Formats: sequence, C-alpha cells, structure tokens
Amino acid sequence: MISESLLARVRATLQGNDTGTFIKPSPGQYPHQWNWDSAVIALGLSHFDPARAWAEVESLLASQWRDGMVPHIIYHHGPSDYFPPPDFWQTAGLARAGDIPSSAFTQPPILASVVRMLLERPSTSGLIDDATLRRHYERMLAWQRWLHVTRCPDGTGLPCLIHPWESGADNSPRWAAILDGITPVDLPPFKRRDTVHVKADERPRPEDYARFVHIINLGRQLRWEPAALLARMPFLVQDIMYIAILHRADEDLAWLGARLGADTREIEGWRAGTTAIFDQRFWDEKRGLYFDYDARAGHRIEIASYAPFTTLFAGLPTTAQAARLVNEHLLNPAEFAAGGPLKFGVPTIAANEPLFGPRRYWCGPVWVIINWLIWHGLRRYGYADLADTLAADTLGLVEAQGFHEYYDPRDGSACGAADFSWSAALALEMAA
Ligand code: SER
Repeated sequence: MISESLLARVRATLQGNDTGTFIKPSPGQYPHQWNWDSAVIALGLSHFDPARAWAEVESLLASQWRDGMVPHIIYHHGPSDYFPPPDFWQTAGLARAGDIPSSAFTQPPILASVVRMLLERPSTSGLIDDATLRRHYERMLAWQRWLHVTRCPDGTGLPCLIHPWESGADNSPRWAAILDGITPVDLPPFKRRDTVHVKADERPRPEDYARFVHIINLGRQLRWEPAALLARMPFLVQDIMYIAILHRADEDLAWLGARLGADTREIEGWRAGTTAIFDQRFWDEKRGLYFDYDARAGHRIEIASYAPFTTLFAGLPTTAQAARLVNEHLLNPAEFAAGGPLKFGVPTIAANEPLFGPRRYWCGPVWVIINWLIWHGLRRYGYADLADTLAADTLGLVEAQGFHEYYDPRDGSACGAADFSWSAALALEMAA
C-alpha cells in the first residue's frame, strides 16, 4: 500500500529533479540524463504522472546512436559543472554517434523490462499508441542486438563491458584487480566535480578515478570503434548483473514483440545462447555463487557481491542454485544479512570481503535499486516472505533517512547524494 505521504514525497523529489526533458538522478551531483536511472524513474512516475513516464522513455531512446547503442550519459541541455562534460568524449563527427551529445558507452539495459511493466499497468498502458510502441521496440531491439553481437568478442552472445561505468557499479571491488593493473599515462587535464557534492571518502578513490579517465582517453584514441575497443581496452569484463538484466530484457522484449506481431526468433536465439553458457562461465559450484568474468585475462573474478542475487530477476538460476544463493549467502549474517556486523541488507559487497567499504559508493553500501532487483527476483522464485521483509527494510531506510543515493549497511545512515530520484521511484515500487 502506498501512503499519501510517501507518494507526496516521491512526487516532490521527482518533480524537483525534472528538467522538462528528463529527470536528473539528483539535484547537484548528476545534472544530466543517466540511462538506467531514467528507465526505472519512469516506473515511479507511472504512479502519479503516467504520460510523463512515457516521455522519460522517449527522451532516453532519442539518444540512441546510429549503430544501436543507447549511451549512458545524455547531455540534452549541453555542459554543466559535471565532469566529464560532453566534449570530453570526443564523439563529434563520429558517423555511428547519435544526434544528442552523449557519453560513448552504455549502461545496464533495463529499459525493455520497464516498458513491459508500464504496459502491464492499466494506468499507463492506454497512453501509448501502437506506432510509438513499435518504434520503441525497434530501437530496443537494435540496442540489445548491439550488445549481443557488436560487444561480444567470443561468439557466445555475452556482451563485454569496456569501462567500469558501464556496469553502473563504477568502483565495485569486483573491478579492483583489473583497475590495480592499469597505470594511467598521459592523462588529459581534468578536474573532478563529484567530490564537490559528496564527501570524498564516499566516492571512488583518486587513483581509481584517474583510471576511469585513462580508460575514456584510450577509447577516444580508438575513436570508439567497437572492434578496436574489444581488441585493445584493458578493462574487458562480462558482468553477471549486466548480463542478467540483458537476459530479462530479452524476455520482456520478446513479450513485446509477440504483442506487436513481430518475429521474435532472433531474441529467442539470444536467450537460448545466454542460458546455454551462463553456468559454465559464471557458476562456482563449490561456493554456490556466480562470479563475473575477466574476459581480457580469461578467468573469473572471485569477489562475493550483490550481483549473483540479481540473476534471480532474470530467472537464470535453477531452483537448487537459487536456494544456495539465498540460504548460504543472502541470509548469511557474516556476508549479506543483518544480524552480524550489519544491521541492514543487502550490502553491495559481502561484509567479510577484504575490500568491503561500508560507506564508499559501490564497495558495500545498500542501494535501493539493488534491493529492488533482488526483491523482484525473490518473488519470481517464490520467496514471498523474504521479499516482503526486504521491501519493508528498504522502506524503513528511506523513511528514516530520506531518498539518498546509498546507505551504510552497519547503521543505515545516509551516504552519497540526497534527493536521489531512483531511490524515490523504487521505494514507491516496493511499497506498491
Ligand atoms: N557514476 C558515474 C559518476 O559518478 C558516471 O556514470 O560520475
């Protein structure tokens, strides 16, 4: 049940971050459009302004590159005090780029799942016509094809990420070993702006930020040419959360295609391909966990993170694997559950991992979007009580602290940016 007071606070937060064209993730820290933020924000909008929810989808897809990619940051209104500014990406004149200035890589493709959720809501489904829906379908199809084909170096259909920012979890300890192996050279001059808005010890460390910039610089030197990126980028990763979100997006896109009378065999082929290889590449039978894959080095990255739990959202684990994920890890107070060193779940890194950092961005804090993905996954696998508890705990956090970017799992205190759009939008989703 959504209380009037929660609805009013969510509405005020989203309206406060509304630029007219898109909704910013937060007032100061992130003044442009972010890909997966925008998608899930549309879910929140659907509760009080369903037409605006579809406008959010439209503005995100308008940024699509000619080669199919939908970029991760879109600068609809030109530069701001955010770093990197639009011209830092050096995409001007690139034939494959889009018409709206943007970053040169992408983010988790959750949009098709959001569009399906919107279509399944009576309040929202009647507000879009078939021609527009078909246009969205074609665009999402092109994006997901780009991921399965253009971003896949090994014929498996599993896409590779070429920058930690593509994962959405920029400085996750999952990427630490790869980042530690990168020594920035000839860095272009830059000035961080993120630490103006948020305390430095809640943001990526300076040495990692320099590596983020270094990898962007390498992409610029390669003119963002997809085959060259796959061949040369030092960060080349198959991220289980990213692939889980894509797998679920394929399921939801096929649903939409069937509704529109399209031939969905290509999408079914992607789904079969991912299902066939997923366990072999990522499942560790001994640990009862999935691990990301360093595709440059050719081995798994054995860090226990939130990412395995997001496979439940995609229906990838068997019921036996799901039971191991839940019973041995999600409910384990030494790792992810409250009751040991933690009071709140789900931390983004297990509490007993050496690189656990409870207040530092993606090194441990609780994120509302991750809890929302896991909540969906638990429901999909029949863990209804656990899902209810997770939703109640997450709502408790936002009630006590406000819609923050992330929360310290030891005491629930707020970290990162305030008035954070997706924390508001997804709190509403879990309350509903
Ligand atoms: N999350 C990044 C930042 O902090 C960009 O995607 O700026």
